[in-house]
Amino acid sequence: MNRAQGGISMTKADLWNRFQEYLCICESIELSLDISRMSFDDAFFKSMASPMAAAFKDMSALEKGAMANPDEKRMVGHYWLRAPNIAPDVAIKTAIEQTVGRIKAFAADVHSGKIKPEKSPRFTRVLSIGIGGSALGPMFVSDALGNPSSDKLQIHFIDNTDPDGCARILQTIGSELSQTLTLVISKSGSTPESRNGMLLAAAAYKAAGLEFARHAVAITGDGSHLDRQAQEERWLSRFPMWDWVGGRTSELSAVGLLPAALQGIDIDAMLAGAAACDEVTRRTDVLANPAALLALMWYHATGGRGEKDMVMLPYKDRLLLFSRYLQQLVMESLGKRINLKGERVDQGIAVYGNKGSTDQHAYVQQLRDGVNNFFVTFIRVLEDGGESGTVESNITVGDYLHGFLLGTREALSGNDRQSMMLTVRRIDARTIGVLIALFERTVGLYASLIGINAYHQPGVEAGKKAATAVLALQSKILSSLSQQPQTAAQLAATIGHKDDAETLFSLLEHLAANGRAKQATDGGPAVSTFCAMG
Ligand code: PA5
Repeated sequence: MNRAQGGISMTKADLWNRFQEYLCICESIELSLDISRMSFDDAFFKSMASPMAAAFKDMSALEKGAMANPDEKRMVGHYWLRAPNIAPDVAIKTAIEQTVGRIKAFAADVHSGKIKPEKSPRFTRVLSIGIGGSALGPMFVSDALGNPSSDKLQIHFIDNTDPDGCARILQTIGSELSQTLTLVISKSGSTPESRNGMLLAAAAYKAAGLEFARHAVAITGDGSHLDRQAQEERWLSRFPMWDWVGGRTSELSAVGLLPAALQGIDIDAMLAGAAACDEVTRRTDVLANPAALLALMWYHATGGRGEKDMVMLPYKDRLLLFSRYLQQLVMESLGKRINLKGERVDQGIAVYGNKGSTDQHAYVQQLRDGVNNFFVTFIRVLEDGGESGTVESNITVGDYLHGFLLGTREALSGNDRQSMMLTVRRIDARTIGVLIALFERTVGLYASLIGINAYHQPGVEAGKKAATAVLALQSKILSSLSQQPQTAAQLAATIGHKDDAETLFSLLEHLAANGRAKQATDGGPAVSTFCAMG
């Protein structure tokens, strides 16, 4: 007997029946979802009917303006960005509509040369500076939809405080900095990585004899530090980031729309795709709602406790950054210690992936034959795009990509590995809007199923605080270092941080490696000594 398993022993005929029974076809968004190779049984949907009904209720309240982020006492309004009519009040509706209008007008003026740089007739490049939710969406969309040979402006990203990384980007831009429009994107307006990237960019403009303000645009919260700086220095423009939009769900706000519009991407189509997907994923008929099905499959595969990892395998180069974007969307939203009742739950789902068939020559070996601690989501794109030349009799380059997808899926389920397959027709702006909206809603529904707040990020804040404390410690070290060599432990005692000797040792190593302290003797943490530069 030919069996495809997926946790349930099935003949090929059974699998075919199951495929037909559960295939969710959404014509209006040209998307389908096949869950037949997940190992749920017939009782699963029944057992989840009431939690799912509650999740739909939560989502409906959220869309109507409930305080869905109770920890930060905020509404959660990313669904209004593509359907301003459903915003809970007229002020929000108007703000969204006006901002989209301003984005389109600004991009058109930049393209036409009406808005131009200080010393050149036109902007030819965009430098986007931001991190996390203020970078991953724009980077994904730019890579998925851009075409360097025909983009209206070439786009570059700085998304870290790595001096070497920043220098590489600024060197790539080189003398075209004079024609570069810099976007500084930060909801809080005070994120150190983005501030540092901005300072390095501003210094580069200055070194080139250019005024940064005449090339700069801020996308940030009203009244933030960045907002005030942009106002005081009279930057070219400012666009809002509202408190009811979270960083990782901000791709369809000015955060993602402005860079995309400048690049020449059809932002109306992205918004329309997202709005159409929202319509479909509001359906309370679970079997006709791909977001509900995905959330239920996440629950089924992970026991509602993150017991298995989610592997994203899009068979399309343009979707390479989708897994990275989803990694943040899913892990920052769901990775929570405490649930809404205040109980310790340690929730989350680990997400990783790149693209097929490339990954078949990397970690897919372990997926097929190694530890079975994951479920795969394949993304299939029907239209090949590009020049799919014939390489063998009746076989094209695109046929190979598609064949590898189906083959790998078969090989995985033949060895009891679970997978789903999401199919879209093509990669265009509308489809990208659909995919963003689909996973945003899946995360929201799944968060309700497991009872957590998906819209705050206490772990990110904790990391920021800890870094501030480390840098304060470094300042103490620098002001206490003398010509007298001391070990890390001695210096820690001198400055009243006896318990922080390990951190001190790391800080001293870094200072010494960068010529800001001297390592007098070497020999490991206990005996190495450091002193001030001569
Ligand atoms: O999703 C989030 O909230 C975070 O990843 C933020 O986007 C990230 O920390 C950057 O914050 P900000 O936009 O305030 O600079």
